[in-house]
Amino acid sequence: MALSLNLLNITKSYNGKLVLDSCSFSFEKSGIYVLMGPNGSGKSTLLRICALLENPDSGKVIYSESIKTIENNLNLRRRITLLLPNIGVFNTTVFKNVAYGLKVRGMNKKEIKARVEKALDFVGLLHKKEQNALTLSSGEVKRMGIARAIVLEPEVLFLDEPTASVDEENVEIIENIIIQLKQKLNSIIIIATHDKDSAKRVADFELYLKKGKIIF
Ligand SMILES: Nc1ncnc2c1ncn2[C@@H]1O[C@H](COP(=O)(O)OP(=O)(O)OP(=O)(O)O)[C@@H](O)[C@H]1O
Ligand SMILES: [Mg+2]
Repeated sequence: MALSLNLLNITKSYNGKLVLDSCSFSFEKSGIYVLMGPNGSGKSTLLRICALLENPDSGKVIYSESIKTIENNLNLRRRITLLLPNIGVFNTTVFKNVAYGLKVRGMNKKEIKARVEKALDFVGLLHKKEQNALTLSSGEVKRMGIARAIVLEPEVLFLDEPTASVDEENVEIIENIIIQLKQKLNSIIIIATHDKDSAKRVADFELYLKKGKIIF
């Protein structure tokens, strides 16, 4: 059963400036939700709050499964992954960059190898697994970031600006990866972007963040 996410009156200010203003939304159906809005409208803030990496000033982020609310603990947080626009790249192979999160979780080597190779294959980077990640092109780094996120097999995935600052060819590759991911995960994928064209191509649901609220 897929996780569903409900936002109830989320409010967040920084230094007295209101960014999210009693923002509510239900992410119940699985599919791709694309969140658009101008620079500084609060998209990244909302994703961090949804991904349980930051607390709202008030309001609730509720994850549930078959109507049952799931407690916010490490176990829940491990079912959720947020991919940031600029991922940190370690000065080592692509393989080790993607394996990192599994190693931290104490997984055995054989399973790590199988999962990392599957994730790299999924984003079209298996042939680059021994290359130093610092020498990847920026489009390839974006794809490595997706591999690093999906290797954790999250049930809810947040992508912050997955196609920003990549060329047309890589935008298309990344969009295709995202569409395939939807079929693979069969759960909620939430993407923040201000690329309206890209949003239209991948979105099942188009959302706008305006004056601190989500408009459907
Ligand atoms: N930790 C923080 N401390 C202070 N201000 C913050 C913090 N996080 C976000 N902000 C401010 O909140 C506002 C919303 O930022 P946010 O990054 O969520 O917008 P965004 O919609 O993702 O913008 P962009 O399209 O440029 O990525 C901005 O004015 C930003 O400077
Ligand atoms: Mg942002």
